[in-house]
Amino acid sequence: MQEFTGRILLLTGAAGGIGREIAAFFFARGASLLLADLDESAVINMARQMDPQGERIIAARYDAACEHDAGIIASLAHDHFGGVDFMVPGAGIYPHCPVSQMEGADWRRVIAINLDSVFYLCRAVMPILRENSAIVTLTSVAAHRGSQNHAHYSASKGAVLSLTRSLAIELGGRTRVNAVSPGIIETAMTRELRGEKGDILKAQTPCGRFGQPREVASVVAFLCGDDASFVNGEVIHVNGGLYMAG
Ligand SMILES: NC(=O)c1ccc[n+]([C@@H]2O[C@H](COP(=O)([O-])OP(=O)(O)OC[C@H]3O[C@@H](n4cnc5c(N)ncnc54)[C@H](O)[C@@H]3O)[C@@H](O)[C@H]2O)c1
Repeated sequence: MQEFTGRILLLTGAAGGIGREIAAFFFARGASLLLADLDESAVINMARQMDPQGERIIAARYDAACEHDAGIIASLAHDHFGGVDFMVPGAGIYPHCPVSQMEGADWRRVIAINLDSVFYLCRAVMPILRENSAIVTLTSVAAHRGSQNHAHYSASKGAVLSLTRSLAIELGGRTRVNAVSPGIIETAMTRELRGEKGDILKAQTPCGRFGQPREVASVVAFLCGDDASFVNGEVIHVNGGLYMAG
């Protein structure tokens, strides 16, 4: 089992379905956490429940689309914990809209929250990343095979993947940078999709079911830990076989 005592995780989208499991997974293994999310009350309540004394968790409101907020979160990590060992920029949105009806503002919003945020945060955190640190981004099966009615989402996640590889080259040595690419995971984000196309999607998935957030969290933890010490610029698919990379 990975052991993260004394190590610091900065996690965004922390109050979401996958974020909560990543937080729990790292906390149970001894890490201290900076949890950030647009939903301030949710992330603060979450931190209080997990760590009532506030010994190992701090939580903050953060808008992923806002460049300034990335600097604030990085400063908080520096001032409170003295640096960052692991970062998972997981905040994201998944709106439904065919390209024919997509306004420029719809496109920009998804790109800002899902993609610009990763750039803003990685750049802001770089100076305080410690030796033997790791960044794990969350891309998506949609990045690899496209997604009907989610062109902005799939484009943002495709770009997150190539940003991940570029960061792996630029940061290699001190910080490994990898991606996890989930398929259909049971969270609020996919509720509508599962309701509409659940049977078809399950039938297309060799494992015959949707994924659980914990099954993403465990792979994120693997990529952060020393068991993955020579894995860099890579993507691990967590999709039950729904999509297999060639
Ligand atoms: N659930 C899936 O099947 C799936 C598949 C592939 C990739 N992903 C990716 O995993 C990540 C987490 O997804 P999830 O399923 O937990 O989603 P979720 O909807 O359960 O959680 C998303 C979280 O992001 C937060 N958020 C939204 N906009 C924000 C903003 N502007 N600033 C800061 N926080 C913001 C929300 O408040 C929420 O807590 C996302 O990046 C998503 O694209 C999810």
